[in-house]
Amino acid sequence: MCGIIGFTGNINAKEVLLQGLKALEYRGYDSAGISFFTGTGIKTIKAVGKVAGLVEKTVMSDDDTKCGIGHTRWATHGGVSEVNCHPHHFGKVTLIHNGIIENYKELQEELALEGKEPVSQTDSEIAAMVIDSYYKSDPVSAIKKAVKKLRGAYAFCIMFTDHPGSIYAIRNGSPLVATTTGAGSIIASDMVALIKYSKDYFVLPEHHIAHLTASSINITDLDHNEIEPDMLHVNWDMAAARKGGYEYFMLKEIHEQPEALRNTISPRIKDGMPDFSADGIDDSLFKDINRIIIAACGTAMHAGLIGKNMIEKLSRVPVSVDIASEFRYQDPVIDENTLVITISQSGETADTLAALRLAKERGAKTLSIVNVKGSSIARESDYVLYTHAGPEIAVASTKAYTVQLAAMYLVAFRFAYIKGKITEDKTKEFIKELEKTPGFVEKMLSCDKAIEPISNKLLKTESLFFIGRGLDYALSCEGSIKLKEISYIHSEAYAAGELKHGTISLITDNVPVIALATQEDVFAKMISNIREVRSRGARVIMITGADAQVDAALCDHLITLPPVSDVFAPFGAAIVLQYIAYYTAVARGLNVDQPRNLAKSVTVE
Ligand code: AGP
Repeated sequence: MCGIIGFTGNINAKEVLLQGLKALEYRGYDSAGISFFTGTGIKTIKAVGKVAGLVEKTVMSDDDTKCGIGHTRWATHGGVSEVNCHPHHFGKVTLIHNGIIENYKELQEELALEGKEPVSQTDSEIAAMVIDSYYKSDPVSAIKKAVKKLRGAYAFCIMFTDHPGSIYAIRNGSPLVATTTGAGSIIASDMVALIKYSKDYFVLPEHHIAHLTASSINITDLDHNEIEPDMLHVNWDMAAARKGGYEYFMLKEIHEQPEALRNTISPRIKDGMPDFSADGIDDSLFKDINRIIIAACGTAMHAGLIGKNMIEKLSRVPVSVDIASEFRYQDPVIDENTLVITISQSGETADTLAALRLAKERGAKTLSIVNVKGSSIARESDYVLYTHAGPEIAVASTKAYTVQLAAMYLVAFRFAYIKGKITEDKTKEFIKELEKTPGFVEKMLSCDKAIEPISNKLLKTESLFFIGRGLDYALSCEGSIKLKEISYIHSEAYAAGELKHGTISLITDNVPVIALATQEDVFAKMISNIREVRSRGARVIMITGADAQVDAALCDHLITLPPVSDVFAPFGAAIVLQYIAYYTAVARGLNVDQPRNLAKSVTVE
């Protein structure tokens, strides 16, 4: 996933572009580049590495410019090099791209027949060449013809050498938001790059061409019909998109969870009952559903595992959780009584979007749980339940995960009530408990002092295990990905009862095992599993509920949650797991917010 930005207006464009790229850097940071109009044409500056390197190179150029485009790259085609860095230029076209052109090789061969050869190994440069091959004097007509040849996902910002002051944009699958302000017109991959200039914005509709000038943005469809965009409004500000004094965005976002939970839960409670009417979701969505499929990736999929536990336990309707990149190539059994729930913080994850489209094609009803307003998954679902966590900048998802849990719990309670499986009183009881989770999480945030020394002991660990049963197994999956993605320590989540069927052979002296035992109904079994690994030399970090009776000799570290019913324990245990990952990565001196090889949202396959 890459970050793209374009600006044309009456202030220094370079500053707008560089500030925007800094804000978008979490989307990809292999290399960065800008192109802008000077008095004599278009100038391009590129730098491998983080945006700071580009800033250094740019300050040395004293060009005064009011129109340009900028790009932060997460490599998909071609290595990390200056030649592969965007913007790409061919003929009269200068272009930046977020996405993947799947047929770029065929197009490259066609262009070669005309004696046209790229200088980079990227699909994006081929796109620039194709647009240029159609360009005579009308940018809109060239773009319309060119995109007919392209297959795959793209968000383009394009400048034409003989159209100074203008930027053109079009998208298919990859995100683009835009707005016009007193300073000029600005377009970018997401709101963090626009928020400094305006809280009002629109999502560029797919397959529509935006023509940005200093004073306006004109949007036409591929049949030359002009349209007015639907304006949206964000309720967070620049401060929310900055670190707010924390060392890393991740720690800030861990601490934002009580507020994120409050903002996600409260608008969905009316007279003590779960209520989605403000979301445009009424009971007719759930009434005839006899099967639910949850499709998502990574942490979002782990939230789905918890959701499955809750929905099945209460409503007695079968729920399956599918990895979206698997689901999209399967031949799922779906009918009009199937509800497919897609979960996605960014709302732009390519695999999850593809899973949603497959579900709709097969006639399922679709509900998405999404954090980014107006994102592709949100817009393409029949219904969307927005989580209100605010911008999540750190690559490692924390507050988005716990608000996804809250959304799943709200769905589970409403669905079970509609199915007549729980009474109104029981539903209200659950809701009362759910309303306490922000306070419960607030209390958990102070356990960092207990966790940090434990994390320091994991510093030199090569590999470790997370084990649990039921909800705790689903949590183990989340704990494992959190630790791996930011500390680079290999870990594996294992159903505790399954360990002895092979993997326990890897448990030897001092191998760390993080055992989650918060669920009373399987607590005794967990104690046996902990004894099994202990007897083989494991170092055990145990996470339990408040009233668990634990023999001190059973574990090296015991972390006890404040009093909470088992069903809501995941909200607290999640904080412990987030802290373990965070403090281990900090102790290892790693860049917690921008771990190697990763990007915040994977908008390519
Ligand atoms: C979470 O910590 C990871 N960064 C990753 O697994 C993420 O959850 C996954 O890529 C899904 O992203 P989405 O929620 O934006 O769809």
